[in-house]
Amino acid sequence: MAGVGRRRRAARVALMPLPFQGHITPMLQLAGALHARGLAVTVLHTAFNAPDPTRHPGLSFVSVPDAIADAVAATANGGADRVAAMNAAVEAPGLAEGVRDALASLMRLGEEEGGEPRLACLVIDATLTAAQKAASGLGLPTLVLHTCSAACFRLFGSYDMLYDKGYLPAQESNLLLPVKELPPLQVRDLFDPSKLPNKEIGLKLLNLASETTASSSGAIFNTFGALEAQELEIIRNELAAKRIPIFAIGPLHKLTSIDGKGTSLLNQDCTCIEWLDTQESGCVLYVSFGSVVNVTLDQFTEIAWGLANSGKPFLWVVRPGLVLGVEKPELPEGFECAVEGRGKVIEWAPQQEVLAHSAISGFWTHNGWNSTLEGIFEGVPMLSKPHIGDQLVTGRYVEDRWKIGILLEGVLERGKIEKAITMLMEGKDGMEIRERAKDMKEKAQLCRESSGSSQQAVDNLVDRILSFSG
Ligand code: UDX
Repeated sequence: MAGVGRRRRAARVALMPLPFQGHITPMLQLAGALHARGLAVTVLHTAFNAPDPTRHPGLSFVSVPDAIADAVAATANGGADRVAAMNAAVEAPGLAEGVRDALASLMRLGEEEGGEPRLACLVIDATLTAAQKAASGLGLPTLVLHTCSAACFRLFGSYDMLYDKGYLPAQESNLLLPVKELPPLQVRDLFDPSKLPNKEIGLKLLNLASETTASSSGAIFNTFGALEAQELEIIRNELAAKRIPIFAIGPLHKLTSIDGKGTSLLNQDCTCIEWLDTQESGCVLYVSFGSVVNVTLDQFTEIAWGLANSGKPFLWVVRPGLVLGVEKPELPEGFECAVEGRGKVIEWAPQQEVLAHSAISGFWTHNGWNSTLEGIFEGVPMLSKPHIGDQLVTGRYVEDRWKIGILLEGVLERGKIEKAITMLMEGKDGMEIRERAKDMKEKAQLCRESSGSSQQAVDNLVDRILSFSG
């Protein structure tokens, strides 16, 4: 890896993720990349969804005492209302005080003669305003890690415009209307806070990324130049006016030695790799909807029969809690018989390994940003079924901008699913999609080479961090 060891522990950087899988993963990956560049690294975390320090011997961990666990668990269990859970995490009582005390202690250690490296800055998840305020109160700069795409950051900063221009609230009649200020998005791709039980909370959460970025000393994006060139250029220009530099350092999972096992909160079932070894090369569809998406029992049944009727081999992740109101859903009657020998269902996969396996030829995904980057890096074409927030943006980009997959729109229905799977994995359209996915894979690989754009961005980021430590 370029730049490894070029500076030995010249400074310390503290990092704090929002305590959910899709946010913890890229923050730990960033921690690993900065540690490999010679920085001392401390990860601040909550007791809720705490990472396992024994998996990261090079990093230090500090638990921030607060009341976050109860607040989040109350909303995240069972119903998994993501918006409410995120709000509880952001608003958690005691969070700011806990972060301030942890940072103050790290700063003191760094000021001792001949002691620990000096604390240069705090890297926060884009939603953590409380942590940013705590750092600012101590005179410590913050950098913001965006765990979604650059396109999504642009959308989240555009809600005033979307309401002013009448795109939102969305109406049945304008769902297909292109949002000409944010191509290729259409109104139906916009996460619409007016549909939430509490619109104000939705809008507040959407605005956090712009808020923390505007008060930051730099914005870090888990994306790469060849994937989002236009979006990055616009953001770069806008933030340059405020003297805020940006760093596009993705895909982070390939810029660090920290692997999927090191970041996963659930145990990964590795027996699926042995099963994949028994399958023909390039024929299996991998199906997973990440760590927070829920489906209804009816949708679950349609997915099951869509997979069965497609006739294609598949590996399906049914994580506990995936189906609303059911801890461990039963597969429909007759399903196991129908798919015998060509279908495997597991609770949680070693996803990065699965996507890299030669048997995989398609990825049915919810388009969480980490999953999307993992699929892109392996050149796996996608069947996209986004559910909420940034996933809707990414689904549109997959189909219309990058053209590396098919977007499954509307109600989930077995006939439609079967048709989409067949289209993706066979036929002329599918072949063209596969070719483009392969092209994108090559671009992703180039950006992580030593002279690649993402490696250089990590070098620039380290320089920025060192510039704070005086
Ligand atoms: C959430 C949001 O849904 C997503 O839109 C946002 O971009 C980040 O936060 P999540 O839904 O969990 O994240 O999706 P994703 O971002 O794709 O992250 C899931 C992670 O879990 C991936 O890194 C994936 O490799 C891992 N995973 C998933 C496993 O290790 N095993 C699995 O079986 C499934």
